This record gives sequence, C-alpha cells and structure tokens, in this order.
Amino acid sequence: MQIPMVDLGIQYRALQKDIDCAISEVLETTQFILGPQGRAFEQEMAEYLGVKHAIGVASGTDALHLALRAAGLGQGDEIITTTFTFIATAEAIAYVGATPVFVDIDPQTFNIDLLQVEQAITSKTKAILPVHLFGQPADLASLKVLCDARKLLLIEDCAQSCGARYADRMTGAWGDLGCYSFFPSKNLGCFGDGGLIATDNDTLAEEIRVLRNHGSRERYHHEIIGVNSRLDDLQAAVLRVKLQYLDRFNQQRRDNAHLYSRLLSELGIDVPFEDGKGIHVYHQYTILTDKREAIQAALAGAGVASAIYYPIPLHRQKVFLDVCREVSLPVSEQSAERVLSLPIYPELTRPQIEQVVEVIAGSL
Ligand SMILES: Cc1ncc(COP(=O)(O)O)c(C=O)c1O
Repeated sequence: MQIPMVDLGIQYRALQKDIDCAISEVLETTQFILGPQGRAFEQEMAEYLGVKHAIGVASGTDALHLALRAAGLGQGDEIITTTFTFIATAEAIAYVGATPVFVDIDPQTFNIDLLQVEQAITSKTKAILPVHLFGQPADLASLKVLCDARKLLLIEDCAQSCGARYADRMTGAWGDLGCYSFFPSKNLGCFGDGGLIATDNDTLAEEIRVLRNHGSRERYHHEIIGVNSRLDDLQAAVLRVKLQYLDRFNQQRRDNAHLYSRLLSELGIDVPFEDGKGIHVYHQYTILTDKREAIQAALAGAGVASAIYYPIPLHRQKVFLDVCREVSLPVSEQSAERVLSLPIYPELTRPQIEQVVEVIAGSL
C-alpha cells in the first residue's frame, strides 16, 4: 500500500458536494476579489480564533511580511526568531529590511528556547517571532510576559498551528499579530496559496487592510506603497467549508499521532514530545533517530513517503551566512541531522500507521 506524506484527495472527496457548491456560487456571482466569501471567512476566522480582526492575504509568507510592515519594523531593527523553521519566517524579516537574530530550540519540542531568547535581546530588538513548529504551540505565556516586560512585539508564525490552543486562547491570539498559511497541505488548507493575519489591534488591522490592497483605502487613492495580496473569494469559499471540520480533523491528527507514538515507543524510537502547555495539532509527526538513512530507505522501498523538516537550520543557509557566519546553534544543528517526519493526515488509517511502524521495525 502506497502511503504519501499527505493525501488531499480523500478530504476533497469527503467534502466534495459542499466544496463544489461553494466554488460554483463564487463562479456564478463572479465576485472574485475582496468579495462576500472573503469577508464572511474573515469574520468566521476572527470568531474561531477569538480575535477582533482577521485579514485574509495571499499567502502565509505575505501574512508575515505585511504583519512586520504594519508593525513598522525595518532597517536597524532586530527580530529574534528560531533557526529551526521554514525559510519564509526569516524571509519576511529580510523583506522589511530588519535583521533576523536566530536562536536555538528546545531539544524536545523543537520550539524556540526561552532562555536563549532572553539572552539575545539587545537595545535594537523590537520583536520576537516564535514559530509553533509542527503544530505544537511555543511557550506563549512566558513569551508574552517577556515581551510585555521588555516592551517588544510578539508576532506569531502560526503557519503550522491552525486550530492549536495554548491555555484558554488559540495560537495567533496571544501575540500582537498572528500569521497563518492556508497552503494546501496545512491543517486548514485551500486549493492554492492563501494566508491570514489575526490581531486585536484596530490600528494594525487597518494598516494591513490598506497595505494588502495597493496602499489604498479608497479606490484609486493611494496613501502608501502597498502590495497586491488578497485572499481571493474562491479560496475563501473553500476555506469556509473546511473550517467547519478543522477541530475534528485536528483531533484525528492527534489520535493518529498518539497511535504512532504508542507503537514506535515500543521500538525505542524518540517520538514527539508534548509539553502539555498547549494542544499539539500535529501538522507534522516528527521523530528523532540516528538511523534516519536506513529508515528512510526502508520506507521508500515499501512505498511509504517520509521527509526531513528541516535539513539545514536557517543560520546555516547560504542566504544568511553574512549575518550568521560565527553563530553556532548546536541543538538545531543536531536535530537537523536526526529528524524524520512520517505521513500524517486526518484520514490516515490504523492499518496504514501499523504498516509504517512495521517497516520501521524491520529497518532497525
Ligand atoms: C513555519 C512556516 N512559516 C511560513 C510559511 C509560509 O507559508 P506560505 O507557504 O503560505 O507562504 C510556512 C509554509 O510552509 C511555514 O511552514
């Protein structure tokens, strides 16, 4: 049985009637940009996340970029972030001309290390940008206390944590700004690119609405140089259908992850650690192993996909070598050598999980 990292077809077929109907409605009305579906989705997401404003944009990368721009961050400002993430987190910092200051991660959760964040704060630090990696919330309560005490902005990269809760609030609702991606494979994914920014701050929300629409509040009146970054109505219509199932899908991801962990623990594998502070929504299911090559080869031989997120931490990427030449972040460097992500999606079945585990057992 072939097992891909993610199977988007199953979900589409399960929701096909509603999704096709929602798409048809947009096609009939021909309101594709900043139309009623986009507005309704923004309202529903604001309610779901428990924030005042949710603003749709064209991608998760744009969400980060526009959040940083709206917050007025730029040249001379330092933004502390994790080195163990997807490039987009740091690209956004570079887009606004600010300097990314990479810090190491906690070896168990893969999330930003609080102590290192504190040590990295200088007079130029303006914001902290944690990533809720693989779907597990970073330590938001401590980050919030730190940001409040040092008068820093807290900007959350929630690309992998849609639907994850930390204490009584959703990820993305803790910070000044929360940035989401709706890339198709994300926990809430559309049929193309899409993103969203969540905030309780009226001024920031208004600034983002202007920025995403060519710097325009009123048609053909342009106050600032903006960008073209709207979440289109076709994507919003699809997302409105899927949002109704997000909590159920996240619970299925968690159930699948827990079954994996039970079976893989019996083989002595280092399974994902849940720190219990937040609810992990398993965008990825990532183990740590010294036998990665052998396991990957065996899985590939059996038709099972696997992936390495991420093989090179950002401070070791060519593009950041000029700012990071002397930087050593050993936990991330060692994790990059040992992480292996296995197939995870809501519809993954028990026999499929058992098959993956069986192949791994045979490779050890
Ligand atoms: C942690 C993280 N940040 C940002 C992004 C960027 O999102 P998008 O692909 O929608 O631009 C991603 C997407 O993979 C991501 O994983």
